[in-house]
Formats: sequence, structure tokens, C-alpha cells
Amino acid sequence: MPVLGDHQAPEPTIFERSRPHRRASSLPVLDVPDVDPADVLPGVELAAEPPALPEIGELDLLRHFTRLSHRNHGIDVGFYPLGSCSMKYNPRQAEVAAGLPGFTDLHPWAPDRAAQGTLAVLAELEDWLTELTGLAAVSFQPAAGAHGELTGLMLIRAYHEARGDARRTIVVPDSAHGTNPASAAMCGYDVVTVPSGADGLVDADALEGLVDEHTAGLMLTNPNTVGLFEVDIERIAATLHGVGALLYYDGANYNAICGRVRPGDMGFDVLHLNVHKTFATPHGGGGPGAGPVLVSERLAAHLPTPVVARDPDGTLSWDHDRPKSIGRLHGFHGNAGVLVRALSFLLAHGGEGLRDMSAKAVLNANYVASGVGDVLPLGYAQHRPMHEFVSTGKALKAHGVRVLDLCKRLIDLGFHPPTNYFPLIVDEALMVEPTETETPETLDGFIAALRQAVAEAESDPELLRAAPTTTPVGRLDEGRAGRELILRWTPDGDTAGVG
Ligand SMILES: Cc1ncc(COP(=O)(O)O)c(C=O)c1O
Repeated sequence: MPVLGDHQAPEPTIFERSRPHRRASSLPVLDVPDVDPADVLPGVELAAEPPALPEIGELDLLRHFTRLSHRNHGIDVGFYPLGSCSMKYNPRQAEVAAGLPGFTDLHPWAPDRAAQGTLAVLAELEDWLTELTGLAAVSFQPAAGAHGELTGLMLIRAYHEARGDARRTIVVPDSAHGTNPASAAMCGYDVVTVPSGADGLVDADALEGLVDEHTAGLMLTNPNTVGLFEVDIERIAATLHGVGALLYYDGANYNAICGRVRPGDMGFDVLHLNVHKTFATPHGGGGPGAGPVLVSERLAAHLPTPVVARDPDGTLSWDHDRPKSIGRLHGFHGNAGVLVRALSFLLAHGGEGLRDMSAKAVLNANYVASGVGDVLPLGYAQHRPMHEFVSTGKALKAHGVRVLDLCKRLIDLGFHPPTNYFPLIVDEALMVEPTETETPETLDGFIAALRQAVAEAESDPELLRAAPTTTPVGRLDEGRAGRELILRWTPDGDTAGVG
């Protein structure tokens, strides 16, 4: 039994806490005739024994799950500089908005006239997102970024096919997030990789040699995954459009440019926004996300059906009559709760607030990058990073220490580790995204922890290789844990076939 303050003590499973006949609730005495289930369910094979559920009192039940929740790191507990994931604070006001009964009690099959509030949220969010991105129309169906990528690529394919011009390839930078080539392959495209130049930006010369009449499009995030703004974006757009191909914007890094520059103005034709990163609901928490897809006018007819329609009298409805649509990608209205949070976040910030948000995200990343640059130099130092930066820890290898060890040591020092080993183009990559919501004191604490861990790599490398030592479990065999999932406890410890 764990004692007060002993957060390292192993927590038994709820089954091990089970005691016969112990209950968290008591039912009133049966006041209706008792029936045999076999009589009311004829032909149904009934289990001989009741299911082996844990039997536990309410207080122990509560304590068990509260204790487990304390072992989970979240943005509400501490700094979470997970590069590319924008794990920023989720304002509580967005939660309040999403929890309003008018939204939560709406039946998914409610007729349009009874769903005017939710439709109004989606119409207003469409106005915000089209204005911010410089694109023309939106689908709210995609459930996350990767789902948005697949949707966007299906739209690109529909666009080309409608012109009788089926194309084969999608170009993806070598720095791209893994979901980019995966989505393209899933959509049936061949993936062509464009290399990065010595400065970490897309090699625009190489790109020109790679595209032709078979190229359907290019997927790009800007700033890219090294945190650098693609300054050649106008040339890149002209290269793609010059061969009749389209530009896809992976909006995962939109936090860096929100309110300052618009992907539509850069030449992008289709994009997804990870609203669960940029506008509340930080992803990584395992809950639902939303990856709305926005398109320019020429792709709008192909958007998933239905889309929100605005009648002249102000009534809103779902428009299902879209013959060129690629069809449905999600049930009902997408993950509507995440979309309510996004609108709430946008309204609370306003235009100036959003500009301030991206400025501070960039400032914070550069502050940390400067604070550790002498011990963890940037992978690509020619250009200043934006909302995140990628350092290389390759010098640690001289002490037999890897960036993974450094990250594990950060856990002992009280910080969630940054993303590591991504993007692949930086040796021993450490990708830090502080986000805009952190104070200078938190950033200073993180800088100090990183510097301490780097110093220890030289003075006491074993300390890093053994970390973490302050957590209930130390290092896991991550490969095995991922491939041999054990998700169910059995009394005899028999895990065969369990997963
Ligand atoms: C650059 C980039 N693209 C795409 C994605 C995929 O987004 P999601 O996790 O919402 O599917 C991510 C996720 O972190 C990302 O960082």
C-alpha cells in the first residue's frame, strides 16, 4: 500500500485491490418480480459465471484512479516542450464553452432547424479560418492532422481527375513529418522525396528537377519541421503551379505564423489545420482532435459532403447536394467539441491576440535556443528558427551518451522531454517547442536543466544512461512494449493472446 508522499511505490491493479462482495454502491431491495434471464432471453447463450469485475469500495476506487492520474504528465502539471506537437495550455474558458448543454445535448440526428447553434459555431469558425488562411472554403470532418492530410490528398486527386489529368506522384521533403508520405501512399500516390539544402530549407533547385506533368502536388509545412521559414516559398509555388501541380500545406506548424502571413497568399491550394494544437485542445493527450481542411475556390466543389450552407434569410443548413464531392470522411459534424473549443479560443484572442500568440511562440523558442546554443547547437544555424528549434546532441556521443539518455535525465530533473530523433535530417535531433504560454522563469528552469544534463554527460555519463530513476518505472523496452501489447490483466498472469 503506497504511503503518503511515496509516489514511487508500485500501484496495484484494481483487480489486486478487489475483495469479495465489496461495493462502491448499494442497490435498493428488489421490488419487482425476480426473473430468470434464460426465460426472457430464449436462445441466448448465457455465461455460467458473472464477469470477473473488481469489487472495491468507492473511496479506494477514487484513490486508485487519482493516484494513477498523478503519474501522468500533462500540460496542467508541468512544462511540455514536445516539438511539433504545440502542447500549449488549454484555456479553461474553451472547456466551459464546449461543455455548454446546447452543444453537449444536441442529438447527432437533430434536424437542421434544431441545430442552428452548432451550425452557427461552424459557420463562424469557417469565417475565421478562411480569413486567417487566405483560402475559400472548409470541411470540418477530418478528425486530426493525418486525417486532414488524407482528405486534402483525396481533394487533389479529385481535382486532377475532374480535369482528365490523373497524376501519379506527390513530392515530400526529406524533413517531412512521417504522416505526409504515409498519407500520400495511402491515397495511392508514389512518393518522391525532395532533399533539404545545407541550410535546412527545401532545395529549390533540386525541386525544379523533380517535378513534371506526373506530379500531383507537393506537401510542405512552413515553417518546416526544423522550425525554419521556407523563404523560397514563392519560387516553390511557381515551380509546382508551372507543371499544373498543387501545393498542400501541413498546418501543424501554423502556431508560428498565425495572424502574420497566410498560406493562401504563399500559394498553397489546400491545407489542414491542427486546431487541436493551435487553438486549444493540445494533442498528445489521447483525446479527440480536429483537422479541418481548407481549400481554394477551384477545389471547393470536391470537399467532403455535407458542408454548411447559408440561406439568404440567415438560416443555416447542411448542404448534401454536391455531386463532385469526394464523399464523407467522418460521421455527423466531425469532432464538434474540439471545433467549439477552437472558436472559443479565437474569439477570446481576437486578431491582435493571435498575432501576439505567434510572436510570443517564436520569441520563447528563440529564447531557449539562445540559452542552450553553446552546448546544444542548432542542427541548421544559418537561419533563425521560429516557434520551435532543432538542436543536435551529436557531441554527447563522445561520452557514450545519446540524446535519448539526455531526455530521460530531463524527467528526473522535472521536465517532460522534447521530441527526439525527429526530423531525421538532424543527427541526434532534439526538437524543442516551448509554445507562447510559458513564463521566463519556466523557460530559465528548462534551460538550466538542459545545461545540467549536458554537463553531467561529461562528468557522470552513467547518471544519464541510468535515468529516469525518480519514476515508478524506469526505461521500458519500447520496441517490445509497442509490439507485444498487454492491455488486459488476468489473475494468473497468463497474457497469451491478450492484447
Ligand atoms: C508536422 C506534422 N504534420 C502532421 C502531424 C499529424 O497530426 P495529427 O497528430 O493530428 O494526426 C503532426 C503531428 O504532430 C506534425 O507535427
